[in-house]
Amino acid sequence: MAAKKKAKGRTRRGRAPARRQASARKGPARPAKGSRARRAAAPARPGGGAPASGKNAGMAFTVRFASTDEDRDLAFALRRKVFEEEQGVPRPLDRDAHDLNADHVVVFDGGGRCVGTGRAVRVDNRVCQVGRMATAEDQRGKGVGGMVLDYLERMASLRGLKEIVVHAQLPAESFYRKRGYVTETPTFLEEGVPHVRMRKMLVQ
Ligand SMILES: CC(C)(COP(=O)(O)OP(=O)(O)OC[C@H]1O[C@@H](n2cnc3c(N)ncnc32)[C@H](O)[C@@H]1OP(=O)(O)O)[C@@H](O)C(=O)NCCC(=O)NCCS
Repeated sequence: MAAKKKAKGRTRRGRAPARRQASARKGPARPAKGSRARRAAAPARPGGGAPASGKNAGMAFTVRFASTDEDRDLAFALRRKVFEEEQGVPRPLDRDAHDLNADHVVVFDGGGRCVGTGRAVRVDNRVCQVGRMATAEDQRGKGVGGMVLDYLERMASLRGLKEIVVHAQLPAESFYRKRGYVTETPTFLEEGVPHVRMRKMLVQ
């Protein structure tokens, strides 16, 4: 299947998968078998996810939805590195209860290192919250975060959701603004870190 990075502005209306029951044993629930969301979550090619395109062409990044415990552990390890070690966020952000039901995206570089991740947690029938967006420090500005966000937005659309919210750290506000998110609150502190809430309406 041809790899596609473009997810923004997708117009196909996705069928919302049946509400999922997840357990710690099973890990994150997957979209219903045979559903569009399940097909979208499947790797674009047998060996892994879709190779990156656009400004990443030649960078040999591979992006996919995390579908195994190993993928998720790599995502958690990257979060730990970025949020705890680099940013010194006082509370562990490597995993929490929302991870069981979230959609997770992972990006790998040409050497198989996990260099990007992010997740989307369903809030209600209309809205999901994107968070835990992290790119390895030495790989920022190469489109990795944009690819993660594209994948999460595409999955949200396929699930029939209408809006995405994000609590953006102030330095990341421009990253989201460039991708259509609008700031809707004054700055507030979360885990001692200044954030703003931003929102994007998904095009259906
Ligand atoms: C925010 C983050 C995930 C973006 O990832 P990324 O892989 O650098 O994103 P991209 O390369 O797709 O896009 C970077 C864009 O954001 C802008 N940007 C804003 N702040 C930036 C920063 N601190 N570092 C790199 N780019 C930044 C760049 O100008 C670039 O703009 P462009 O799309 O016009 O080129 C990454 O900077 C990161 O992991 N930051 C630390 C953790 C964090 O703050 N997470 C967000 C919590 S809300």
